[in-house]
Amino acid sequence: MSTDAIVLLRNDHQEIRRQFKRFEQAGDNATAGKAKIVDKIIELLTVHTYLENEVMYPEVRRLLPELEDDVLESYEEHHVADVLVAELAGMEPDAERFDAKVTVLIENVTHHMDEEEQDWFPQVRAGLGRKQLQELGARMNELRPQAPTRPEQPSALKKAVDAVIS
Ligand SMILES: [Fe+2]
Ligand SMILES: [Fe+2]
Repeated sequence: MSTDAIVLLRNDHQEIRRQFKRFEQAGDNATAGKAKIVDKIIELLTVHTYLENEVMYPEVRRLLPELEDDVLESYEEHHVADVLVAELAGMEPDAERFDAKVTVLIENVTHHMDEEEQDWFPQVRAGLGRKQLQELGARMNELRPQAPTRPEQPSALKKAVDAVIS
């Protein structure tokens, strides 16, 4: 199996998009079903942004300084997603604003993943060698079992705080 970092991140994106579609296709009254899907979305996003923030983004910033602006913009987009995810994690699924918040999360994250895939991942692939991308992917695979799965876990909270103050 490939450990190419971009392949791994794109696989995550695909699974995230699949859950977004499931949410969008669930009926207006499918409250329990949608709550389960949102739990899954929260888990997928918490793990994925953690791996990008801990491995991919700092390494891209270090190795390809010309992509610094893209990386900084991406950190800010993660932060917006973190806020929405944290709010959703503490919200009852039948709350008046629940669906609206999920919809805004889906719009924001979809835009963010499209930008990663279309704009800067190709530049990262061009700038880094195959071997470097495989090493980055291997590091992400190693870290994955320890990644937080809920926003209230300490390692996820630390990430959220770092994003605001650093
Ligand atoms: Fe990202
Ligand atoms: Fe991503």
